[in-house]
Amino acid sequence: MAKGMNMAQKPHIIVLGNEKGGTGKSTVSMHVIVGLARMGFKVGSIDADARQGTLSRYIENRSLSCDKIEKSLPQSTHFALFLSTNSSREEASKEDNANLNEALNKLSDCDFILIDTPGSDSFLSRAAHTKADTLITPLNDSFVDLDMLVRLKNDSLDILRPSTYAEMVWEQKKQRAIQNKSSIEWFVLRNRLSSLNAKNKEQMEDVIQLLAKRIGFHYIPGFGERVIFRELFHSGLTVLDMEDCNMQVTLSHVSAKQELRNLIQMIQLPGVEKLAA
Ligand SMILES: Nc1ncnc2c1ncn2[C@@H]1O[C@H](COP(=O)(O)OP(=O)(O)OP(=O)(O)O)[C@@H](O)[C@H]1O
Ligand SMILES: [Mg+2]
Repeated sequence: MAKGMNMAQKPHIIVLGNEKGGTGKSTVSMHVIVGLARMGFKVGSIDADARQGTLSRYIENRSLSCDKIEKSLPQSTHFALFLSTNSSREEASKEDNANLNEALNKLSDCDFILIDTPGSDSFLSRAAHTKADTLITPLNDSFVDLDMLVRLKNDSLDILRPSTYAEMVWEQKKQRAIQNKSSIEWFVLRNRLSSLNAKNKEQMEDVIQLLAKRIGFHYIPGFGERVIFRELFHSGLTVLDMEDCNMQVTLSHVSAKQELRNLIQMIQLPGVEKLAA
């Protein structure tokens, strides 16, 4: 247990969610898992997208690398959950809920549990969102991705109404209120930011700032578009492991590390004071 952690809040559940695919949920999941594990927290992880299995394979690759370099690296206790194949919607929903609860129970001694969800709607994904103390939604810097959060007036930046995913989060917040649980702290993280100051980037910034107030999330500037976030997958490593594994560190890697540190600090998790180097 890390310094400052309130036992009563354990385990704190972090969900990575966005019904739009390919926004960086699994990549950010792995980096947050390793960031927290490196700080000395006991971390559990659940892949609620086991059919695709990106997070599970990332974690498997990490274990293989540890064997290869004969070194132990901080990691999570991991479970992968497949969607129920029951033909009855009601039974499928019950099974998905039961499987999620079983995995959460097995991880009940963790400080943090991170759940990676698929880029689509499912009972399991909804159930995971209901469990979230902290929800992180990575968003590619594109109006196509923003459309999952907000409907804009045709060819303008005027907000018409929250979109499918924002409404789903709102519904899960209501479900938590009914269960007398604390509210979901929702963070929207811009991912794959270009280093160029394009007009699209400025417009996205304006709309997201407005939207944050209107639908109640915190906005995080996020991760830049960096090759390093892609190429470490097959070795199961993150930007925080490079020095430990004697890899050459460039300026871009240092910036990537800083972006991760900023993210972990901005989401204000209980007990998190500083990210271990
Ligand atoms: N900051 C980044 N810079 C460069 N590439 C990135 C960055 N973040 C993610 N990627 C790449 O973007 C792609 C999608 O990332 P990832 O699989 O993490 O998204 P996802 O939201 O989990 O997708 P899905 O919805 O399919 O589960 C991957 O190829 C990943 O390596
Ligand atoms: Mg994924």
